Amino acid sequence: MNIRRGLTRRDLTRQLSIAAGVATLSPALAIAKVIKPTPAQVEGPFYPVVEQADKDLDLTLIEGHSETATGEVILVRGQVFDTRARPLKNALVDVWQANHHGRYAHPDDKNPAPLDPHFQGWGVIRTDENGWYNIKTIKPAPYPLSAVSESGWRPRHIHFKVSQPGFDSLITQMYFRGDPLLAQEEELLRLPEARREVLIADATPDASGLVLFQFDIVLTTA
Ligand SMILES: [Fe+2]
Repeated sequence: MNIRRGLTRRDLTRQLSIAAGVATLSPALAIAKVIKPTPAQVEGPFYPVVEQADKDLDLTLIEGHSETATGEVILVRGQVFDTRARPLKNALVDVWQANHHGRYAHPDDKNPAPLDPHFQGWGVIRTDENGWYNIKTIKPAPYPLSAVSESGWRPRHIHFKVSQPGFDSLITQMYFRGDPLLAQEEELLRLPEARREVLIADATPDASGLVLFQFDIVLTTA
């Protein structure tokens, strides 16, 4: 029996088109790895406003200074990906953070903790051919939400702003595993637990002898 009996030419054309489409798309969909974009976090009030000459990957040393920043020196490293897990080369990675005492070099930071004249505090770098960025910095201290009232503390964190043409810019924060203040951090608690996890970096030993925190970032297509 001819199963196509009764079908019009238009029906056949449509069915063949659908079949061809499925045959083309299914294998690709089956092998494509899809990863979720990194959750956004608030920018906060302390994005740097005072221009500085040195914004390189080493935040522990300001060019021309003989002394280095105070605090525990750490490495922060990661890859920037798209949602198909493809590394993004030349992505702009803009990082800023509080110093060893929990103070930002920002005119609006009223925290009485001391400034560190040798801490760079801000870096703007680009990912390499394989999407990697690397920074050397100081482990930031927690800081009070308000300098004048008892309104809680923010856990240790580093702010990131990552951008690449063709992708939505992402503003987020990296946190440190084991920080007891994470349990009360509103910016984390508003996320599902699994999504919080991707913002919390683990400490691992590095061949340099420093502690390394890996923080990968996934951007979504604009
Ligand atoms: Fe902050």
